[in-house]
Amino acid sequence: MIIAANFKTNHTRESTANYLEALNLFLDAYPTHCDVRVYPAASSLLRADLYPHVKLGAQNFYPAVNGAYTGETGAQQLDEFGIKNVLTGHSERRIILKETQDFIAKKYAFARSNNWEIIYCIGEPKDVRDNGFKAVAEYLWAEFDGIDTDYEKLSVAYEPIWAIGTGISAQTEEIAEVLDMLKAELKSVPLLYGGSVNAENLRQIVSLKSCGGALIGNAALDAANFCKLIQIAQNK
Ligand code: 13P
Repeated sequence: MIIAANFKTNHTRESTANYLEALNLFLDAYPTHCDVRVYPAASSLLRADLYPHVKLGAQNFYPAVNGAYTGETGAQQLDEFGIKNVLTGHSERRIILKETQDFIAKKYAFARSNNWEIIYCIGEPKDVRDNGFKAVAEYLWAEFDGIDTDYEKLSVAYEPIWAIGTGISAQTEEIAEVLDMLKAELKSVPLLYGGSVNAENLRQIVSLKSCGGALIGNAALDAANFCKLIQIAQNK
């Protein structure tokens, strides 16, 4: 079970360090079978080996080792922190940063060539959801264009865009329908759900038969709350 915190553009370097310290202490005292991951802002990356119970990851990277890519972070910079897992395909990067499927596929291939663990994010907007499950399925499969899903370090996060940061999670039936569809095709790839996950809905979500974890934004920003979420997943 993967329980992951996506900080997005939140926390400073100092508060990230405090958070990770608290989380690592908690996991030392309460060992878990969960694979706990935290994705801080790029400016708050810290050495991954300082927090042995947590996998630190990058929310974003440029598909190059280094070079002339102003403002971007390459593999050389992630290597310095021992970062070996990344998010790719998040809807905020697709929509706000205008990342195309073609570019995302390039980033995915680069991450794969570095042997990094990847959480690959997909999710449909509200107008597609309003057109029914067939439209949702078509939209989601199109987000796999150019993505080699036959990669043992891949997990897929289903994050319906209309459920992200809105406080309104998808219904468990809606989540189950999509995750079951993905499972039928992707077989052993762990499948996560993301979108307004909180302490009230997590247990039901991670109890779904095709669900292998959660990618959490707002509800994971507070370390104590994230610890609570890990315990819920642990005890489901
Ligand atoms: P929220 O949990 O804040 O809805 O964010 C979900 C998300 O986008 C995680 O990547």
